[in-house]
Amino acid sequence: SSTSTSAASGDWQKIGTAKELDQNGQLLVKNSPVGNVLVVSTSQAGNLIAVDPTCTHKGCTVDWKADAKKFACPCHRAEYGTDGQVQKGPAEKPLKTYTAKIEGDAILVKG
Ligand code: FES
Repeated sequence: SSTSTSAASGDWQKIGTAKELDQNGQLLVKNSPVGNVLVVSTSQAGNLIAVDPTCTHKGCTVDWKADAKKFACPCHRAEYGTDGQVQKGPAEKPLKTYTAKIEGDAILVKG
């Protein structure tokens, strides 16, 4: 077949292990094969959320606030929901999101 797909957008990429994620409740990987990615797990077992943590305002790295279940930017206090959508300015555009899953001990992310 001559069909070709971009490795960055079409394939599952291993970016870490379930153990690493469990230890901190989050896993931040800069410059992974899909780009900068922050994976967090919610209380719901097996439910992973993955975003590009680069704030769309001025590019700071957002923090995951597990209690509030949102991403908060330390620079100018923009906030994003688990779907990446802006909940509070000054950011206007949503965070890029990824699909994530656990397979065995591997955390896999797809752009
Ligand atoms: Fe995130 Fe300004 S860089 S709110």
